[in-house]
Amino acid sequence: MSAPFGRRAATVVAREEHGAYVVLRCHDPGGPAPRSGQFYMLTAADRWGGGEAERPFLPRAFSVLRARDRELHFLIEDVGPGTRRLCELQPDDQLLLVGPLGNGFVRPREDRTPLLVGGGVGIAPLAIWQDELGPETPALLGFRDAQHAAGAVLVHDPVLATDDGTVGHHGVVTDLLEDELDARGDELEVYGCGPPAMLEAVRLVCAERSVPAQLALESGMACGFGACFGCVVPTVDGYVRLCVDGPVLDAHTLESALVAGVGH
Ligand SMILES: Cc1cc2nc3c(=O)[nH]c(=O)nc-3n(C[C@H](O)[C@H](O)[C@H](O)COP(=O)(O)OP(=O)(O)OC[C@H]3O[C@@H](n4cnc5c(N)ncnc54)[C@H](O)[C@@H]3O)c2cc1C
Ligand code: FES
Repeated sequence: MSAPFGRRAATVVAREEHGAYVVLRCHDPGGPAPRSGQFYMLTAADRWGGGEAERPFLPRAFSVLRARDRELHFLIEDVGPGTRRLCELQPDDQLLLVGPLGNGFVRPREDRTPLLVGGGVGIAPLAIWQDELGPETPALLGFRDAQHAAGAVLVHDPVLATDDGTVGHHGVVTDLLEDELDARGDELEVYGCGPPAMLEAVRLVCAERSVPAQLALESGMACGFGACFGCVVPTVDGYVRLCVDGPVLDAHTLESALVAGVGH
C-alpha cells in the first residue's frame, strides 16, 4: 500500500503509557490501511522544533503498531527531542503524518509457520503482524528490564526475556530463539525487529540453522520515500534505500544487521 501524496493531519484520540513506552492512537480517516511492517513519518503539528534555541526537526519514522477502525496506533520511546515531543501529545492534539511507507512483511513459505522475535520498540511491527496472522502466532520478546517489559502487553501471550532477569528468562531473547530453532527450526520462518545488536544475533542464529528470516531494520531517515538517500544500507546485492526497499529485508541478503548510525 503506498502513501497518498503529501502530509495529512490526524487527531490524537488516546495516549496510553506502558512502562517505558507511550502508545499514541490517532484518527486517520483519509489514509489507506497499512500493511504489517510498514511505517509512517510523524511530526507534531505544533512545537516541532523552531522555538528559541531549537533547530527545526525533520519528521521521524515510526512503525505502525496497530491499525483498526480508522485508527493508527504508534509505540514511542522517548530517546531524543522528536520522540520526547511526540510523547507529550495528548488527546485532541494534531499529528502530521506521511504514510504508509515501505514494504512490510510477507507470509511464510508454504511449508513453514511464523515465529516472531523482537524487543524494545521493535515489538511494534510484530504486534500488527500477529494481529494479521492470528493470536496463536508465537512471540519471543526481549527487554532491558521490567519497566520496558511492560510493553509486552501489546503482544498476545509472548515468552519474555530480560537482560536483568526481573521478568522471564534471565538473558537475551536469542537464548530462547536458539532453543526453539533447535527443536523445530525446519518448520519455522522468523520475523524479527529490535535493536541492531539483537537483529544481528537473530540473523546469525537463523543463518547457522538455515532458517529463513525477515528482519525489519532501522536506519536514519530524512524523507521516508526514496528522495534523499539518507537511509541506505549495504546488502549482498549492493546498497538499498531502506525506506522503499525495506524496512523489511530478507536476512540472507544481509552480511550484517548492524546498520551504521542507528543509536538504540
Ligand atoms: C522504519 C523505522 C521504524 C521505526 N519505528 C519506531 C517505533 O515504532 N517506535 C520508536 O520509538 N522508534 C522507532 N523508530 C526510531 C525512531 O525513528 C528514531 O529513534 C528517531 O530518530 C528518534 O528521534 P529523536 O529526535 O527522538 O531522537 P534522535 O535525536 O534522532 O536520536 C535517536 C537515537 O539515536 C541516538 N543518537 C543520536 N545521535 C547519535 C549519534 N551521533 N551517534 C549514535 N547515536 C546517536 C540517540 O541517543 C537516540 O538513542 C523507527 C525508525 C525507523 C527507521
Ligand atoms: S529516507 Fe530519504 S531515501 Fe530513504
